[in-house]
Amino acid sequence: MLRIGLLGAAKIAPPAIIGPADDRAEVEITALACRDAARGRAFADEHGIASVETDYEALARRDDVDLIYNALPPVRHADLTIAALEASKPVLCEKPFAMNAGEARSMTDAATRTGLPLIEAFHYRFHPAFGHVVELVESGVIGTISSMDAAFNVAIPYREGELRHTAPLGGGALMDLGCYPIHWVRTVAGGEPIIRTATARQDRPGIDTVMSAKLEFPGGVPANISCSMAEDADFSAHLTLTGTDGTLSILNPLAPHHGHKISITRNGETETLKVEGATTYHHQLDHVTDVLAGRAQQITGGEDAVANMTAIDAIYMAAGMAPRGT
Ligand SMILES: NC(=O)c1ccc[n+]([C@@H]2O[C@H](COP(=O)([O-])OP(=O)(O)OC[C@H]3O[C@@H](n4cnc5c(N)ncnc54)[C@H](OP(=O)(O)O)[C@@H]3O)[C@@H](O)[C@H]2O)c1
Repeated sequence: MLRIGLLGAAKIAPPAIIGPADDRAEVEITALACRDAARGRAFADEHGIASVETDYEALARRDDVDLIYNALPPVRHADLTIAALEASKPVLCEKPFAMNAGEARSMTDAATRTGLPLIEAFHYRFHPAFGHVVELVESGVIGTISSMDAAFNVAIPYREGELRHTAPLGGGALMDLGCYPIHWVRTVAGGEPIIRTATARQDRPGIDTVMSAKLEFPGGVPANISCSMAEDADFSAHLTLTGTDGTLSILNPLAPHHGHKISITRNGETETLKVEGATTYHHQLDHVTDVLAGRAQQITGGEDAVANMTAIDAIYMAAGMAPRGT
C-alpha cells in the first residue's frame, strides 16, 4: 500500500491525486495538513481522509505516510519539500517547482542527499500523447527542428488572496502557466535555451498578467513562448514545431484527456491523430508508483526542474521583473 499525505486542502488535490488514488486499490490518501482545522476536517470527510494535521511539518513525520504531495503555493514548495525529504519521505511537488532556480537547486540537492525521489507534478508529461510527440520528433518525422512556438492561456480573474495574483506566494502568469510552454519546448529541444527578449504586461505591480518571450536553443533554434491569465483570455494551449521536412503541432498538450489533436504536415499533406489515454493525473500517479517501485526512471524533477526554473528566472529578468522570492 502506498500511503499519501497531502500538504494543503488544495483545489487541485481532488482531480490530481485524490481521484486517481481512489481508482487504485494499492494507493490511499491517509492524512491531510491544512492550516484551518475545521476546513481541513470538512475536506477530509468529503474525500474519505482519516487524519488531519494543522501543522504542515508534522505531516512529514507521520508513520502512516509514505509519500508527500505538496500542493501549496510555490513559496512553500522548497521548505516543506526539503523537510519531507529529510523526514525520509519522497515528494510529488506541484509546478512551478519552486520560487526560483536557487530554491530548486536546494530541493534537488536534498533529494540527492537523501536518495529519495522528488518528482515535479508536470502531469502532462506522463500522458502518452506527449510521449508520442517526443517519439515523433526523435524519429525525424519533420527533420531537424528549426523553430518552435508554444502558448498557454486561461483566464484567472483577480481575487484577493489568489496565489496567481500574489507575488510573495509565487504568483504570476509565467510561474503558473508559462512554466508549461517552457517545459514543452525544452523537452522536445532536448537542450537549454538562452532568453533573447521578454515582455510582460503587469496589471498590478510585480504580477505578470501576460508574458511573452523569445528563446534560442542550441544550434540557433528560436522558440516563442507566451502565456496569459488576463480576464478576457480564452483557453488555449498549443505547441507547434517547424522542422526542415515539415511541421508538427499538438493542440492541448496540457490536458489531452479533455481532447487534443496532433497534426503532421509534410509535402503539403496533413495527417492528424489522437493518442488515447486516461487523465494526465492517472498517468502521473502510475509514473510515481513506478518510480517508487524502481520500475521507471524519473523524467521530471532533478536537473530538469532546476533548468525550468532557471529559464523562468531569466525571462522575468529579461522582462525587467524580479524572479520570484528575490
Ligand atoms: N497540476 C495541475 O494541473 C495544477 C493545477 C492547478 C494548480 N496547480 C499547482 O498546485 C498548487 C496549488 O494550486 P491550487 O490551485 O490548488 O491552490 P489553492 O487551492 O488556492 O491553494 C492550495 C493551498 O495552499 C494554501 N494557501 C492558499 N492560499 C494561501 C495563502 N494566501 N497563503 C498561504 N497558503 C495559502 C492553502 O492551504 P491550507 O489548506 O492549509 O489552508 C491551500 O489549500 C500550485 O503550485 C499550482 O501551481 C497544479
